[in-house]
Order: sequence, then C-alpha cells, then structure tokens
Amino acid sequence: MKVRKAVLPVAGLGTRFLPATKASPKEMLPLVDKPVIQYVVEEAKLSGIEQIIMVTGRGKRAIEDHFDASYELEDLLKKKGNHKMLRELKTISNLVSFCFVRQSEALGLGHAILCAKEVVGNEPFAVMLGDVIVDSEVPALRQVLDVHHRFNAPVIAVEEVEPSEVSRYGIIKPEKVEDGVYRIHDLVEKPKQGEAPSNLAISGRYILPPETFSAIEQAAPGNLGEIQLTDALKTLVQNGPVYGCLVEGKLHDTGNKLGFLQATVELALKNPEFGEEFRDYLKGLRL
Ligand code: UTP
Repeated sequence: MKVRKAVLPVAGLGTRFLPATKASPKEMLPLVDKPVIQYVVEEAKLSGIEQIIMVTGRGKRAIEDHFDASYELEDLLKKKGNHKMLRELKTISNLVSFCFVRQSEALGLGHAILCAKEVVGNEPFAVMLGDVIVDSEVPALRQVLDVHHRFNAPVIAVEEVEPSEVSRYGIIKPEKVEDGVYRIHDLVEKPKQGEAPSNLAISGRYILPPETFSAIEQAAPGNLGEIQLTDALKTLVQNGPVYGCLVEGKLHDTGNKLGFLQATVELALKNPEFGEEFRDYLKGLRL
C-alpha cells in the first residue's frame, strides 16, 4: 500500500534551545536561508508524500502561516517586480496538502503521533521529526520508503554514532540483512556505553503501520508522564519483522544549539550563492 501521509510532530517545547524558543518554534529557526521545517517538508514532497499532518501546539502558529498563502506579500512582490521571490513563495504554499492537528499538552513524541490517529486512518504512514534534517543525494525518507516497499514491513531510519555517544540515543539491536538494512530485534533507550547492543541510533524517520496507534495507547507513560514512541516500537518488534535502514547522507539534529550551529555551517558552505565566500571567511578567522 502506498505511503501517502507523513506525520510531523512539532509540538515539543524546545527546552534545549531556550531562550530562543521561548516565544517562537525551534522548527522556524532559519537554517541558512529557510526555516528548518521547510527542509523536512521538501524532503517529504521529494519522497512522494501527498499529505502532511503537522502536530502543533501552543506558540506554533508561525509554522501554519509559513506554509499558507501570503496574499499581502505576494501582492507587494508583484508590484516591486520581484518575480523570482514571488515564485519561491508560491512554491512553499503549494508544496503538498497540509493538515494541522493540535497536541494540547506536550506529553511526549508517542502522544504527539497519537494525536494524528483520526487523520491517518487505517493505512501505513511516515513519521518525520521536525527538527532533524538530512543532507543527502536521495531524500532520506525515500531511502526508508524503498526498504519498506521491498520488505513490506515497518522501517526505522538509523545512523551510526560514536560508541561514546550511544547514551544520547535510542539504539537498535540489529541483525544485518544486507548492506545498510538490518532486522531490528530490540530497541534500547539511551543505553550506557558498553551496554549498547550496537552503535546504530534511531534517527528521526519512520514508516509505521496503523497498529502503531493502539501500541502507543497501551504504552505506559514513562519519565515525567511522557508517552514515548520507543515502547510502541518495541511492541511492533515483538509482533513481526521491523527493519532499520542506514540512511546515506549527513544527519543534523537541529534541536540543540551545537547541532544547529554545525548544520548552519555545513549547509552555508554548500550554498551556491555565497558558499565560497563563506569558506574564505572561515579560513580567514584566527582560530
Ligand atoms: P524533542 O525531544 O527533540 O523535542 O522531540 P522537544 O521536546 O521540543 O525538545 P527539548 O528536549 O524540550 O529541547 C522530538 C520531536 O517531537 C516533537 C518535537 O517538536 C520534536 O520535533 N514533540 C516532542 C512533540 O510534538 N510533542 C511532544 O510532546 C514532544
């Protein structure tokens, strides 16, 4: 069955990025020349997704406005004869069809996804974290979808992380099936170094069956009363094959300050308009 819908949970409070995120969503922080969330939406579009279901919360209106038409701005650009920017603005609002649902309280990633249950209905769907972007030749979600189509099973994107960093991630217990594809036998949330079953970390893109919703409903709230996704994924793993897809490309977690800065520098260096100039600037810095 074709995966038509992608759920983008963007209702988190962004506490790691305070005070920048006190009144504005972290997903709207500009990464070089567009908000982080636009990279994710463009990846969805390039991967063949037809509908995006954003799970938003208080203080996230800017995201809705960003993907809506903006008549006053368009009118102004038309009058000024700035047709290039006019085209760009129209492309943003016509990217895909959007639907917004609210998570009234930030009760965790699992809970955010559950808020999209009615809109997703009884079909497989994608989940894309709104603060993770992937710089890759083939869009990351398309890579994950390819594995889903070949194995006809749920798939989770994974990335290799340093063994010293495993305690920051959800880590899979893998069995290699082919290059870059693993059968997942278990998932461990933030294991201690030395106790991790691998260095393959869950990384922000998922293709999930509709049964995920009942698995989330049955998952008990964990730390701080949050309903996490990992417990529901564990249920899926117990009920049938689930695969990990090692994504080719560079992943950036823009939800923390250092990750955001690294993404900014790397993408700015690749920018066709000013990348070279920026490289020269960096070279000239006395470090
Ligand atoms: P994060 O843990 O990275 O986001 O969740 P956060 O909670 O905003 O960040 P910190 O830890 O407070 O700094 C991953 C994704 O899940 C969404 C977030 O918006 C982010 O895109 N999320 C998280 C929700 O939509 N609702 C939640 O209750 C929690």
